[in-house]
Amino acid sequence: MAYVVTENCIKCKYTDCVDVCPVDCFREGPNFLVIDPDECIDCTLCVAECPVEAIYAEDDVPDSQTEFIALNAELSKEWRPIIEKKDPLADADEWAGVTEKRDQLLR
Ligand code: SF4
Ligand code: F3S
Repeated sequence: MAYVVTENCIKCKYTDCVDVCPVDCFREGPNFLVIDPDECIDCTLCVAECPVEAIYAEDDVPDSQTEFIALNAELSKEWRPIIEKKDPLADADEWAGVTEKRDQLLR
């Protein structure tokens, strides 16, 4: 199993999750983060850190979000590691309240 970043992260990228990951398995895209499922050790630490509750255990991903399981696996092989917290995206707080935004995902 692994943990999975889902839709709520898009256009926010708060990156609080990155600081607690003991194995540095977050990968960064233009407006979204993913977890490399081959590196994640299921420690659960990142879940509570995300202010928009974007991170789920693979088995607990809501039905409406299951496409993000494959997306994390795919994009984690293309994107570069992020190992330190940084400022969220400029309009993160406005987008944090938007639930349907997967069409905004940039690769
Ligand atoms: Fe990293 Fe643990 Fe989160 Fe996996 S569950 S991404 S190992 S902090
Ligand atoms: Fe995204 Fe939440 Fe991490 S918004 S960058 S999953 S803290």
